[in-house]
Amino acid sequence: MIVLGIETSCDETAAAVLDGGRKVLSSVVASQDDVHAPYGGVVPELASRRHLEMIVPVIRRALAEAGVGLRDLDGIAVTQGPGLVGSLLVGCSAAKALAWVHGTPIVGVNHLEGHIYAAFLEERVPDFPFLALVVSGGHTALYAAETARRYARVGQTRDDAAGEAFDKVAKLLGLGYPGGPAIERASLGGDATAIRFPTATMSDRAMDFSFSGIKTAVSLHVRRAGSLSAAQVSDVAASFQATVVKMLVKQTVLAGTRLGTRRVVLTGGVAANTHLRQMLERACGERGWELLVPSPRLCTDNAAMIAAAGNDRLEAGERAPLTMNAIPDLALA
Ligand code: KG4
Ligand code: ZN
Repeated sequence: MIVLGIETSCDETAAAVLDGGRKVLSSVVASQDDVHAPYGGVVPELASRRHLEMIVPVIRRALAEAGVGLRDLDGIAVTQGPGLVGSLLVGCSAAKALAWVHGTPIVGVNHLEGHIYAAFLEERVPDFPFLALVVSGGHTALYAAETARRYARVGQTRDDAAGEAFDKVAKLLGLGYPGGPAIERASLGGDATAIRFPTATMSDRAMDFSFSGIKTAVSLHVRRAGSLSAAQVSDVAASFQATVVKMLVKQTVLAGTRLGTRRVVLTGGVAANTHLRQMLERACGERGWELLVPSPRLCTDNAAMIAAAGNDRLEAGERAPLTMNAIPDLALA
């Protein structure tokens, strides 16, 4: 089955073609970083406008690189939510137009399920059941994946997403946008033990996260310091990164222990972070758990992961009507 995936939930216009749900024939990602960088974060109205300009060329390129035409498609999978409504609408409208013209079956895919399916595009794929830590710019949550297409949310952030904290702290430190890669680069020469930022603990023993406290702590530290040298910026970046990673690993281990997990999937944009990959690898290794992490380019937003999730839904007989629409707060579990 040849499936076209379309992803426009945030600030990447992406299209990909998959063969058999696992073989990536093409994966095109048009980044909007240049549009949003001056603002230090995604501006929804500008994102929708850029999606409108890019959606047709990006789909065309994905088809051309895969060497397939619209008539060769057995299905179209499009991100239905969660995400920015104006951005989601562009992808959904394009998918529905193609489906209507060519009579192609379509399915709506949950963006977070897409992130989890990125793990199925690697050589070593996860067996069910597994625990998934989805950590991105808009979401930070733990899901217990029992069987295909069945998820239970066991924990989530109570305020900011981890990626959002990376982006905001990078802005505070004048490191530019997107913040995650910028913090990771800046932290390379820094001392991760230089500043002790607070870690959030849940008084109700919940397997949740909170990143607003550390964001405020960094903001206070920067204000108190007045001006920071490059070396001091590196220390703040490294200390912040280490603290966020510590919190992510701690709650994942807590959830895994309580659930009797043997396998963990780490995915989402922040999963591209080397320190997080290493620390979770170590924590899982110590417990005899298998850790599966997609390669960095599959962790950040792309349409191959959407096509992979959509392929399974199409194979299971799922079809979306042409009245399907964007759902900005679509839940996974
Ligand atoms: O999954 P994603 O591409 O988009 C959303 O669904 O949100 O995640 C984007 C987020 C941004 O906040 C970005 O700063 C963060 O992932 N990110 C990183 C790294 N690369 C991207 N965070 C930490 N370290 C990285 N290397
Ligand atoms: Zn994402």
